[in-house]
Amino acid sequence: MQTVTVNLGQRSYPIELGEGLLSRVGEMMKAQGIAGRVGIVSNPPVAGLYAEEVRESLQGAGYETSLVLIPEGEGHKNTASLGLIYDALVGRRFDRGATLIALGGGVIGDITGFAAATFLRGIGFVQIPTTLLAQVDASVGGKTAVNHEQGKNLIGAFHQPRLVVIDMKTLRTLPQREFAAGMAEVIKHGIIQDAGYFGFLEDGMDSLMRMDPAALETAVAGSCRIKAAVVEQDEREQDRRAILNFGHTIGHALESFTGYERFLHGEAVAIGMIQAAALSASRGVCGAAELGRIEALVRRAGLPWRIPDDIALADLVDGLELDKKSHAGKIKFVLCEGIGGTRFQWFSAAEIVRELASGL
Ligand code: NAD
Ligand code: GLY
Repeated sequence: MQTVTVNLGQRSYPIELGEGLLSRVGEMMKAQGIAGRVGIVSNPPVAGLYAEEVRESLQGAGYETSLVLIPEGEGHKNTASLGLIYDALVGRRFDRGATLIALGGGVIGDITGFAAATFLRGIGFVQIPTTLLAQVDASVGGKTAVNHEQGKNLIGAFHQPRLVVIDMKTLRTLPQREFAAGMAEVIKHGIIQDAGYFGFLEDGMDSLMRMDPAALETAVAGSCRIKAAVVEQDEREQDRRAILNFGHTIGHALESFTGYERFLHGEAVAIGMIQAAALSASRGVCGAAELGRIEALVRRAGLPWRIPDDIALADLVDGLELDKKSHAGKIKFVLCEGIGGTRFQWFSAAEIVRELASGL
């Protein structure tokens, strides 16, 4: 077991990471000084796999628990599901001393975090992420949100968890495609912040894709450390935290153009990272050799790596223009400075498309 700390002053918290930790959630919450009633929020498939073990651990530590289920999937990351959580909390008379546990992937983490941020103006929150993407990205850093029918994550709040518990065994039931999608964010962390970590991924990608336990734990811990370091520098994304959006500008445009149905988020980000590296290369910020290394690693993770032939770059303009980080018609684009560094540059959507079309 290892601990990665997210250092945010009074809002600091540990990420406990290892094999078999679900049965120790109760004692870990006690160690964090968490008291009061506990609501476990999950969806039916994940709850069927893991809720009982979490519940037993909590009851063993003396917590009074309830389970709140919401329907599975990104399509249910909305105010209707949020209403189900609020109804359960009101119906069961949860008070300000209560804590919500998110047991599931990023969808459950984001919606539960938002419920915890807003119920009674804020109650406690613990993350138990069960997808690779949620373990290395969504559960760390305190961004919480639900979708509006007009766009993703439009209703949200910053609300840091008090504890994150990552049980590596949960990855064994995750579908391979979801696992690979999480690997895109792992690779992103190496590109934006840590060339040594990227090298570790290059050496170990085959073991990682075979889910070798030691390699996987090292990768997840490494990724959490990188994300924690970025969040510690800029908790509310005034500036530097935006480097975590590397690959996401084009990734989001691809997701939006395909109606959020064709690509998993990590798959769209994988393609977006290669496009962003290509744009970086065309601006002379990243070398051709580094672009080649990024592309090779993405492909070894079994991720899509180029925009499919039936989608034209020009199709992405509308999606690019809707980028949440745009300002006065320009998008704050994250370029990679080789491997291990980043630089922001402002582009219009048309400039991005023109430059990529001429360079690829
Ligand atoms: P997800 O939560 O939809 O989970 C993917 C699928 O895997 C679901 O069907 C889920 O039921 C299932 N699942 C989860 N754990 C499982 C397990 N151990 N075994 C078997 N099946 C399991 O998807 P995700 O990729 O984890 O998260 C995506 C969401 O995260 C998006 O809504 C995105 O906006 C959000 N996100 C948030 C942040 C943040 O900083 N808050 C960062 C990245 C992504
Ligand atoms: N996933 C981007 C962030 O947490 O800032």
